[in-house]
Amino acid sequence: MFLRNYWYVAATDSEVGRKPLGRLILGEPIVFFRTEDGKPVAFEDRCAHRHLPLSMGKLVGDRLQCHYHGLQYDQAGKCVRIPGQDQIPPTARVKTYPVVERYHWVWIWMGDPALADPAKITDFHWLDDPNWGAKPSYLHVDANWQLVVDNLLDLTHLAFVHETTIGNMALVEHAAVKVQRTHDNVVVTRWIIDQPAPPTFVKVGKFTGNVDRWQIIDYTPPAFLRLDVGATPTGTGAPEGRRINGIGMRNLNAITPETETTSHYFWGQAHDFDVKNPEMTERVFQQIKTAFLEDVAVFTAQQRSILQRPDAPQVDINADAGGIQARRIVDRLRRDEQAGAASVVAAE
Ligand code: FES
Ligand SMILES: [Fe+2]
Repeated sequence: MFLRNYWYVAATDSEVGRKPLGRLILGEPIVFFRTEDGKPVAFEDRCAHRHLPLSMGKLVGDRLQCHYHGLQYDQAGKCVRIPGQDQIPPTARVKTYPVVERYHWVWIWMGDPALADPAKITDFHWLDDPNWGAKPSYLHVDANWQLVVDNLLDLTHLAFVHETTIGNMALVEHAAVKVQRTHDNVVVTRWIIDQPAPPTFVKVGKFTGNVDRWQIIDYTPPAFLRLDVGATPTGTGAPEGRRINGIGMRNLNAITPETETTSHYFWGQAHDFDVKNPEMTERVFQQIKTAFLEDVAVFTAQQRSILQRPDAPQVDINADAGGIQARRIVDRLRRDEQAGAASVVAAE
């Protein structure tokens, strides 16, 4: 069961072009393309005739032509041409989805189109803000989306999974942690004061002594995690807001369910130092990518293990507090959506 009345990231801007792109989102096959004037469009990826995926077809002007018998669909998903036939049945149409391009991503609304307000798109401006260097990327993950959310809300795993890049034991043993929850949001704040910097921070921040390090994780449903992370030389007053002579980064994550056991993982890393230097952006990105591939190995192994015995009990520990709060929010929103859907059906 997925939350539907949300904007999800469907693709990076460069993935959507004049060649149709097929992608499964929340279990629904969808085809993406751009019109001649560059507007992104999303259709159900299933021809109304004999259900060939339309992503196998091609664009003829602004019409999408099915590969099998050449039916052509306009931007509204309506069939406007059947070769060799004048009459077009009114049922010859495919579902369309609201899409918006923002922050180098193409967003799709999977719920009731009447509720699709672009103002509800989660803010990821760091990906195209000139005050930041940034590089976005995509990973396909053979794991349920909530395993990725859990991972990002509990950063104690950095000490074990990422000990060669962004982790060290100070994160687990010397951290002051606070979990705050509001109606629709969880923030986990972790401060590590006067401790050695992890390997990546030494490389890109050139720290020579101990640092004060922060990790502020902001979770917004269904699966948006914006991490404010960084460090300053110890004692400069970073906990009071004086972030000087250090490094600050945003680790940006948007996870879109593909199926119950697979996910599209859109992420990016932004940095506030040396922002106009593409080499620095690349160096930061590669360090984080190394860490993320280590995470993907963890999620996929977890998913395999869970599928072997789905009902096996799990034990919770203190570090799970953020993840547990996020799951409670999702469970409540899911119940709300189902109740809303049921009341619409009852009224019909
Ligand atoms: S299946 Fe698409 S035109 Fe026949
Ligand atoms: Fe990780």
